[in-house]
Amino acid sequence: MTLMIPHSRPTIDKKDAELLSDVLLSGNIAQGEKVAEFERQMARFLGLKGCVATSSGTAALHLSLIALGVGEGDQVLLPTYVCAALLNAVNYVRATPVLVDINPQSFNLDVHDLNAKLTPKSKAVILPHMFGLPADIDEIMALGIPVIEDCAQAVGATFQGRPVGSFGMLAVFSFYATKIMTTGEGGMVASHSEDLLEKVKDLREYDEKNDYRVRFNYKMSDLQAALGLSQLARLADFITHRRKIASLHSAGLKRLPVDLPQESEDRRHIFFRYVIRTKKPLAAILRSFQQRGVCCRRPVYKPLHRLLGLSGFHWAEEVAESALSLPIYPSLKDEETEKIVEAAQEILR
Ligand SMILES: Cc1ncc(COP(=O)(O)O)c(C=O)c1O
Repeated sequence: MTLMIPHSRPTIDKKDAELLSDVLLSGNIAQGEKVAEFERQMARFLGLKGCVATSSGTAALHLSLIALGVGEGDQVLLPTYVCAALLNAVNYVRATPVLVDINPQSFNLDVHDLNAKLTPKSKAVILPHMFGLPADIDEIMALGIPVIEDCAQAVGATFQGRPVGSFGMLAVFSFYATKIMTTGEGGMVASHSEDLLEKVKDLREYDEKNDYRVRFNYKMSDLQAALGLSQLARLADFITHRRKIASLHSAGLKRLPVDLPQESEDRRHIFFRYVIRTKKPLAAILRSFQQRGVCCRRPVYKPLHRLLGLSGFHWAEEVAESALSLPIYPSLKDEETEKIVEAAQEILR
């Protein structure tokens, strides 16, 4: 039987297990001091006023939209080539989602299409840094629309030397199991604005309030935060490792008729995903990798416009039919990396 190389795998070690065990035995297993410490350390890492930990990236997006006052009748712009979590958050607040096409090289939101779709009702843009590569944050900020940076796939990436998440009015992170750093499930909201952070914090929990409004139970637990602290301490190593594997993949694939991931001087890619583009039929390619014991994926399962039955997203359509994500994560062994490259050389030549 061929052992399958999974598409993603969290990087967890014995130390993580010990830290979790300490928290468990302490009896303080709900939101407490560990969560507060995780928030402080993330804020320090980003160079921001503060952070508010949440139960998921989706919860972080939901609270960010409410904190910005986005509601019914408002438009929120977002790229179509993303997972449904972003669309859900917009629908939770009953705003109108406006889908934007992407740049086929960077897989990030296309600034021109965004600009063309702005209207007086546009209240915010959700800007993901796809697969770990910073989006055109400077050009998008210059349009004047409030930006929620979505760093779910890009914690530790930098734009002009500054960490992503430190530019937008708000930024969200996800610490889902397969993300760059994980708390199992979990998220974070970051901001320069104490006022916005206060709003998010107030909405995250419902207990011991003097007034009533609809609030949520979107808290992170100390168990999760202990894991988050340990992962944050190793984030730089994780990224170094991912970048090393990315360069091995690129060296092995450079003579093949595929488009390799791009990186420019001013943006540091952290390779949450290693995404290439091929002209060959994607379904057959995915099956061939599977047969050789390598689990590859479409990096976005289905673009949002397809889920909604909309058309007119030329580049997202092209990318959906050509983009392929190869395994990349710190625990990938050298022989596994070799096996991935060998399979790619046979299948994609
Ligand atoms: C870009 C982006 N934003 C938000 C999310 C949602 O995060 P979560 O799964 O923690 O709710 C994801 C999840 O994969 C994502 O990729």
